[in-house]
Amino acid sequence: MKRTFYMAAICLAVTYAACTSNDSSKSTAENDTSVKVTKEDKVKRGEYLVSVIGCGDCHTPKIMTPQGPAPDMERFLSGYNAEIPLGAYDTAIANSGRWVLMAGDLTAAAGPWGVSFASNLTPDGTGLGNWSYDAFRRAMREGKYKGIENSRPLLPPMPWFNFKNMTDDDLESIYEYLKTIKPVKNLVPQAIINMPPQQS
Ligand code: HEC
Repeated sequence: MKRTFYMAAICLAVTYAACTSNDSSKSTAENDTSVKVTKEDKVKRGEYLVSVIGCGDCHTPKIMTPQGPAPDMERFLSGYNAEIPLGAYDTAIANSGRWVLMAGDLTAAAGPWGVSFASNLTPDGTGLGNWSYDAFRRAMREGKYKGIENSRPLLPPMPWFNFKNMTDDDLESIYEYLKTIKPVKNLVPQAIINMPPQQS
């Protein structure tokens, strides 16, 4: 009888210890995750976000392959290739407001606003090389060209008004990732502006 009592007491003690130690390790683990997110984790998350959001659909030039157009990984996220002339397009259609014309590789778009060229997002000086995180956040959240407070609004089709709801963590992850990709020297032409979108 006495033995059973001891056994039960030991069991209880062990269970209690297990519970409390579990609890404390859990709360430390929880606390730790916010501290322990390394730069590497952020870069990985950024890479994932950039690929599933499809920033490259507009920001990466394409090359033609037997399977159709594919991203040109040599120029990954480097924007409209400044060495390729825009070529002629029907401005009457572009200005009509009923159609938007896109370059075959989706890095330039003509519409009632004028012509926009997808920016160079690589860490070269002609891209985001000298951008602070603050500037990046302002471009992505407030749609400001170059991320400068009083600059012009970003033109279509850059969907910053969707990106503005991204969490700080996600935005930082994208920024950190973009700093790790291959720098590509490419000074994207200035946009041709007919009618800037309404300032918001
Ligand atoms: C549907 C096409 C499209 C997609 C998708 C897109 N962008 Fe853009 N982005 C553009 C265009 C076009 C511009 C240039 C707009 C302008 O000149 O006003 C631009 C501009 C930018 C700028 C501002 C650059 C500058 O010099 O001011 C940043 C930063 C940017 N994009 C980041 C991203 C990121 C990061 C993603 C993915 C999360 C993304 N974009 C997805 C089309 C797109």
